[in-house]
Amino acid sequence: MNVADFGDRYRERIWETHIAEDFERDIVAGFAATRKSIPSKYLYDALGSALFEAIVLLPEYDLPRRESELLERYVREIVERTQGRLRLLELGSGSSQKTRTLIEAAIERYGAVEYTAVDISLDAVRNAAVQLLDRYPDVSVRALVGDYFQVLGEVTPQPSTLALCLGSNLGNYPGERGVEFLRAVRGAIAPSDMLLLGVDLRKDRALMERAYNDAIGVTAAFSKNVLARVNRDLGAEIDIGNFEHSSVFDERTGSIESYLVAIRAASYSLGGARKAVRFAVGERIHIESSHKFTRDELRVLADECGFVERGFFTDEEAAFALVLLERGENATKKL
Ligand code: AVI
Repeated sequence: MNVADFGDRYRERIWETHIAEDFERDIVAGFAATRKSIPSKYLYDALGSALFEAIVLLPEYDLPRRESELLERYVREIVERTQGRLRLLELGSGSSQKTRTLIEAAIERYGAVEYTAVDISLDAVRNAAVQLLDRYPDVSVRALVGDYFQVLGEVTPQPSTLALCLGSNLGNYPGERGVEFLRAVRGAIAPSDMLLLGVDLRKDRALMERAYNDAIGVTAAFSKNVLARVNRDLGAEIDIGNFEHSSVFDERTGSIESYLVAIRAASYSLGGARKAVRFAVGERIHIESSHKFTRDELRVLADECGFVERGFFTDEEAAFALVLLERGENATKKL
């Protein structure tokens, strides 16, 4: 528990727990694999989180606007259906900007709210927490910083919780990882508690790809920043100018797959005594999957993970959806 950094002003209203990452081990292993990869959670250092806040303003990346419109339109109905949930547990809280709509509706309905923010970015959680505390005197904040899976393992289920996974964050856990993720959320809430998912839906390929290949290159900067982080944190010497950002929709996985592609063949020091990393021309580093869901897929996933659907809210184009799930009583099915 660490409250000192927030000063006396917030002492009674905020708790922070920080779980350390193994950045070096993950980067070295990802570069040594036949298909090179970097876990997408490492995109979110201080600059990466700031660049992501710029992405959500891009005209091409319309997920946040669609989600905010749905939240504005349905928030009262959602809060009504949660029947007395005054604890919010948000996975991937980032700036907590959209959460304000829910916090305000919950305060209006129940008077006070306990808000637990879980995010990989310490800077994002701290900034968001201080802003929320300043704005809402009836909110207390618990900040949990680290990998969702590790953090969820530390959470003791508290009755009357509405878990939130907005912004299509679930999409960054494709396939079996998504199943594991939802089961971990299920384990962190009490029976009959609820989960609100914000998910991007499958749509026209060009529209989906445009959202991840914006005209002014903010998404490319967000992607390349992870290499800057590798250079800075490991003392590596990767020439970032030798990489291009590329995001393509893969029919097989149903996800936008994002890569950094080597323009020329090269070999780079990873710092210290670590083995150098070699790239062939056109070789890719996979940095992120952003799954695009179908309604059927969501039904199967919810069922497989021990949730029952209690609401499905979408826009006129069926581009984005808010899905309200209730934790069922039965044990989850076997994988
Ligand atoms: C945070 N996450 C849901 C975003 C997505 O759409 O996968 C991250 C992102 N990457 C590029 N643009 C946005």
